[in-house]
Amino acid sequence: MTSRPEPAHASPIAADQAWQRLRGRDFLKELDFTAAELMSLLALAAELKQEKLDGHERPRLLGKTIALIFEKTSTRTRCAFEVAAYDQGAHVTFLDPSSSQIGHKESIADTARVLSRFYDGIEFRGKAQDTVEQLAAAADVPVYNGLTDEWHPTQMLADFLTMLETAGTDDPRELRYCYLGDARSNMGNSLLVMGAIMGADVRIAAPPELQPSAEVIGLAEDRAAESGARILITDDPTAALSGAAFVHTDIWVSMGEPKSAWAQRAELLRPYRVDAGAMASAAPDAAFMHCLPAVHDTTTVVGAKAADITGLTDGIEVSSAVFDSPANRAFDQAENRLHTIKAVLVATLSS
Ligand code: CP
Ligand code: NVA
Repeated sequence: MTSRPEPAHASPIAADQAWQRLRGRDFLKELDFTAAELMSLLALAAELKQEKLDGHERPRLLGKTIALIFEKTSTRTRCAFEVAAYDQGAHVTFLDPSSSQIGHKESIADTARVLSRFYDGIEFRGKAQDTVEQLAAAADVPVYNGLTDEWHPTQMLADFLTMLETAGTDDPRELRYCYLGDARSNMGNSLLVMGAIMGADVRIAAPPELQPSAEVIGLAEDRAAESGARILITDDPTAALSGAAFVHTDIWVSMGEPKSAWAQRAELLRPYRVDAGAMASAAPDAAFMHCLPAVHDTTTVVGAKAADITGLTDGIEVSSAVFDSPANRAFDQAENRLHTIKAVLVATLSS
C-alpha cells in the first residue's frame, strides 16, 4: 500500500447556501445553470469534503433512493454516485442495458415514468444527450447526466473544484487553463462551455477537424460575453499552452468510437500530445489534468493496442513521464468526483 498525500484541509471556497434553491432540478448540462448556481455547488462540495475528512459527515439523504443507468462503462462516475449516496444515507440500484429492459424493449419515456414511481433521482450515462433530455422530460424526479457524447457536466464540477483548490482561490475568473486533444467530444465541449460560464481564461487546441462545433462555440461565446471569460480556439498547441496554469487532455478515442479510429486520430493529434515539451510551454509549475481513464503506458489492453497502432510506447495523449510526475492532479480530480456528485445529490434531493 502506498501512502496518500495529505489532503489540503482549508478550502479556498467561501461558504454559500444558494444551492438550496436547486432542489428538484435536473443536472443535464452546464448550460442549464448560472455561474452562481455552479459556484454554490462547488461550495457545497467543499463543505461536504471537509465534513468527510473530519470524520463527522451528517447524512442528509436518509431513505432516498437513486437509480443509476449506465449504457456505457464507468469506474469513477458509478463509484462516486454509489459512495456519495451511501455516505449520505441513500440507496442505489445499478442498471445496464444487458440486465434491464431499457432501450431494447422499453422506451426511455416509459422507463422514466416507471423509475419515477420507485426512485427519488435517476442518473444516466450513455451516448446521446437527447436520451438523457428525454428521460428528464418524462421523469417526475431529478435526472443527472453521468456523461453523454456531448457533455460531461459532473466531471466539470470536479475539475473546477480541483483547479480552485490547486490555485488556492475561490474565484474561477482567475483560472487559466488549456485543453489539448479531441475537442469535439464531451470533455472538450464541457471544458469550453464551463469555462465560458464561470469567466475563466480557456484555450482549446485541436486540429480543425476535431474542434468543437460552430454551435458549441457560439453557445460558449454567448456565455463568455456575460461572464467576461476569455476564449481561444486554435490549432496551435503552443498558443494555447502559453501561460496556462492547467493543462487538460483526454483519451484520443472515446467510448463508443470504433477501434479503427485510432490510426487517423493519432495522426491528427500527435502535435497535441501532452509531453514534457508541452508542459514546459505552459506556465511554470503548471498542473496536468485528466478526467481519466488515461492511456499513459502499455499495461492495459487499450494502451498496448494504441501503442501498436501509433508507435507511441510511452503513453498516448499524455507521456508516461508527465503522468508519473508531481504535476499530475488527475487523482485529486478523481477524488473530487465523489465530493461534487455528492453536492449535486444533496442540493437536488435533500429536504
Ligand atoms: N472520468 C470519468 O467519467 O471516469 P469513468 O468513465 O470511470 O466514470
Ligand atoms: N471522452 C471520454 C471521457 C471518459 C470519461 C469518453 O467519452 O470516453
